[in-house]
Amino acid sequence: MEQKGRESWGTRFGFIMAAAGSAIGLGNIWRFPYLTGMNGGGAFIVIYLGCVLFVGLSIMTAELAIGRRTQLAAVGAYKAYNKGWSFAGVLGVLSGFFIMGFYPVVGGWSLAYIFKSFTGLLSNTGAIGDVFGAFIGDPVQPLIWMFLYMIINVVIVARGVHAGIELAGKILMPLLFGLLIIIILKGLTLPGASAGLSFLFVPDWSVVKGSTFLAALGQAFFSLSLGMGCMITYGSYLNKEEKLPNNALIVVSMDTLAAILAGVALFPPLFAFGMEPTAGPGLVFVVAPQIFAEMGGFGVLFSVLFFLALMIAALTSSVSLLEVVVAYLMDEKKIDRKKATYGTAVVMLVLCTLSSLSLGAMSGVTVFGVGAFDFFDILTDKIFLAIGGMLLAIFAGWFLKKEDLKDELTNGGTLSFGLFEVWYNLIKYVIPVLIGIVAAVGIVSIEQTSLMIFGILVIVVLAIFSKKL
Ligand code: PFF
Repeated sequence: MEQKGRESWGTRFGFIMAAAGSAIGLGNIWRFPYLTGMNGGGAFIVIYLGCVLFVGLSIMTAELAIGRRTQLAAVGAYKAYNKGWSFAGVLGVLSGFFIMGFYPVVGGWSLAYIFKSFTGLLSNTGAIGDVFGAFIGDPVQPLIWMFLYMIINVVIVARGVHAGIELAGKILMPLLFGLLIIIILKGLTLPGASAGLSFLFVPDWSVVKGSTFLAALGQAFFSLSLGMGCMITYGSYLNKEEKLPNNALIVVSMDTLAAILAGVALFPPLFAFGMEPTAGPGLVFVVAPQIFAEMGGFGVLFSVLFFLALMIAALTSSVSLLEVVVAYLMDEKKIDRKKATYGTAVVMLVLCTLSSLSLGAMSGVTVFGVGAFDFFDILTDKIFLAIGGMLLAIFAGWFLKKEDLKDELTNGGTLSFGLFEVWYNLIKYVIPVLIGIVAAVGIVSIEQTSLMIFGILVIVVLAIFSKKL
């Protein structure tokens, strides 16, 4: 099934940096800390780690295996085995589009905050929250930053797998870890910082609700770039010598480490300064600058470094989101890379413009009870990704031959994968049931009932028309 002339990663390090770059993003530095803050701290982290270890790692391994086996991006990979399953791939491409309907908006905010750090953002501590609110609600400013952010994305993806995506990951990922560590070292020296560490690492089980599990599971999928064919696509550029289970473990560990580091970077100073951990999506943009403002002299430097890290993390992820759609158009519609990239980016820009305006000028316009930003966010994070992951597990466990999977994961029997049976049983029996339960309990508790029904209908309609997709 190997395709002639398919692009591929140059080196193992390059692949790992690109895959970790996809996984490590706003999900780790923007979303993980605020979800942890809103869901009570340590207990959420323990549930999250359980989701990552038992569900995320297995699905990551399966996605890489299917991608490399078929040498095709999401839709093609499903189709290569069974046309009735094309819809699962198309659902992934759709998720990619929808996540890219809000992700570059937040990417643009981070880009803006790098510059705002120099221009007085930190000088008025009391008003930092108002500054953020006014900024994201402005009809023009955030659009300009989002546009600039999108241009950087397009340039990287248009350059292709090796010269673009891989190169960006190799340079930017190590820089990101370095920056986070500097910020942590600074924060931990503040008096009272230890309360933040207890909040993160001492679980309080009384705060756990049914919806906490879906929040943790959805976050695990989002953060690891799973459930939408991204790792199928990245796996399809991987050469036959690589050890897939090892690579999956490395990428998952790096992603988890980045999320924990982001938590350790934010919560100790937050507690040291007596601020609230439940600030929500504004946590990073409101609380972090306040922390930096309180640091005095070096505050500006730390603020610049922090938002640079956030922007870098976002960039290597949105590059992968764009790549999922571009790879689909190249594989299935035979459109060339540059055309596919530019065309896709234009559609994404339109979606992002709606998202950005939904936080200000167009806040009165809602679809299914929410603005465009929340529409894209809730639909993907709470419904599409988890269901996409469940479909992938069912597909791998019940529709692919066990020997084929074993062959792919052991490189034709030349390596040992001692946990193969454990992995296979998890994928075949445990994960579909587990996701089924968590999704059923969590999805019905989504406040916006009509949005929930819409999301499920989309999946059902795609499934019915699967053979035509
Ligand atoms: N994993 C990215 C993050 O944590 O920000 C977001 C993401 C990228 C989700 C790619 C899904 C995806 F396919």
